Amino acid sequence: MGFLLLRWQRCQYDMQKLPFYPLKNLKGFQRGFFVFKKAKIMNEIIEKIQLSDEVFKIRVKAPLIAEECLPGQFILLQVTENGERIPLTIADSDKTNGTINLIFQTVGKTTHLLAELHSGEKILNLVGPLGKPTHIEKVGTVVCVGGGIGVAPLYPIAKAMKAAGNKLVVIIGARSKGLIILEEEMRAIADELIVCTDDGSYGKKALVTAPLKDMCESANPPNLAIAIGPPVMMKFCAETTRPFNVPTVVSLNTIMIDGTGMCGGCRVTVGGETKFVCVDGPEFDGHLVDFDNMMQRLRAYKKHEDEAHEQCHLEMAVVKKMGDQA
Ligand code: FES
Repeated sequence: MGFLLLRWQRCQYDMQKLPFYPLKNLKGFQRGFFVFKKAKIMNEIIEKIQLSDEVFKIRVKAPLIAEECLPGQFILLQVTENGERIPLTIADSDKTNGTINLIFQTVGKTTHLLAELHSGEKILNLVGPLGKPTHIEKVGTVVCVGGGIGVAPLYPIAKAMKAAGNKLVVIIGARSKGLIILEEEMRAIADELIVCTDDGSYGKKALVTAPLKDMCESANPPNLAIAIGPPVMMKFCAETTRPFNVPTVVSLNTIMIDGTGMCGGCRVTVGGETKFVCVDGPEFDGHLVDFDNMMQRLRAYKKHEDEAHEQCHLEMAVVKKMGDQA
């Protein structure tokens, strides 16, 4: 129990409302000044870029997270006092400037509220880095497969795999051209980049599993596949590589509440055992994950998410109309 409490304290390390434990040696005015100074600079959005209709990239001042985070890790954030906490994987970090990059799609109320924040404004609470980092090693050829917004967390992993000396093949896909993200960044690090769209508006008209299968069937199959994207995409990537015995890592994005392994909100079944994505993951052996069970749990909240999405669009339309009339 003591260990869990300690974890929870550590998790709060980068929150705007700083915990007292790292400051226990400071007293009175000293401590107040330190908290004030840190609170002023932390969680501030330094830059915000709209990558597509519903995808945004923000650079956030979070020096303690930037200092410690490794590829594959994530943060939990909260935009309003009583709002939900959502996990977002760290897409990139800059230790020198103390910033982290987050890329998100506006799929629910919290992500809509986050998208409404501008440069100079602050995210209420930001906790991390959480989860186990990706195991990086030289294995030969690594194929990184990213679908939709999943390309964002894939980027630092692909970069680290390349830096470790692997041949890097990257396959990225989306429904249409406008939803492809980080193409140039991936092109800059990959030995080969394959872009797919479902509707054929850009790159190959194919699902990402098609070039993945081609690679597995080739004379030089990959030594490792890493797939990140919607659950159904990861499921079928794992099914594609299974007959070829290509080890396949997936990164799961489930509902999360505390991020410390205590609430059980993020539980998944892996190899017949219950695992918690926040502390045991987010990466798991894709051939062992029970995706159907995970998707069933995610669907339980789909109706609320869709309603919140619709409500946000209506509110934004009203605000825009009022702005146009003013
Ligand atoms: Fe609560 Fe993982 S978020 S156990």
